[in-house]
Amino acid sequence: MDHATALALLDWQIELGATEAIGDAPVNRFESVEPMRKPKTPDLTPEPPAAADPVAEARALAENATSLEALKAALSSYQHCDLRKGARNLVFADGTAGARVMVIGEAPGRDEDQQGRPFVGRAGQLLDAMFAAIDMGRDRPEPDKALYITNILPWRPPQNRDPEPAEIAMMLPFVTRHVELAAPDILILMGNHACQALLGRKGITRLRGNWTEALGRPTLPMFHPAYLLRNPAAKREAWADLLALQHRLREG
Ligand code: URA
Repeated sequence: MDHATALALLDWQIELGATEAIGDAPVNRFESVEPMRKPKTPDLTPEPPAAADPVAEARALAENATSLEALKAALSSYQHCDLRKGARNLVFADGTAGARVMVIGEAPGRDEDQQGRPFVGRAGQLLDAMFAAIDMGRDRPEPDKALYITNILPWRPPQNRDPEPAEIAMMLPFVTRHVELAAPDILILMGNHACQALLGRKGITRLRGNWTEALGRPTLPMFHPAYLLRNPAAKREAWADLLALQHRLREG
């Protein structure tokens, strides 16, 4: 560039408002300009909620309950088990709290769902008759003669289908706390599903009549009364189991 051109360019820059020479080398301002950045604003998007763990939530609710009434309220506030949507009533328990014997069945059927009490249909009537034969019953006030009755599932499964493993897993913390709070001396597990849930074993024909332990308590598996209605010949074994229970209670 010749002297005259350089001078003309300088004049032009002065005309544009340049007042100072700040460097020997030209700076391409278009290249050095950073892209416009949006001002930083705090991110107010809520954190996605931690994925709910239905079993952990059941455990927390159940462990916080310090009475049977509180446990029933905790169970009725529990939203993760879809069975509740199809059920008319929560079936929590029946009989005498403080009984030495706690009976645990499978799940409510139609009659239980309607009345909100366990074992009130045909199987329940047989259960009452069986225990009456050894002078025990859900309405008896004496702890030695009384029964406290519940189920693994507190809501009726649709069409009385079998409980699913996920449903049992969700309800197990409640059943465990139920047993702790009712504090019976002996548990009776009625049928395969109660055995599966609390002993981790099925095969009631082999299990029945053999004392074992569940949740730290002496436990006797028995044929479910609904099975006895279909297989009356098995009442013989059920009678032997009732006598074994009576004997154990008399031992102290
Ligand atoms: N069968 C059960 O296991 N429980 C009930 O409450 C009724 C029928």
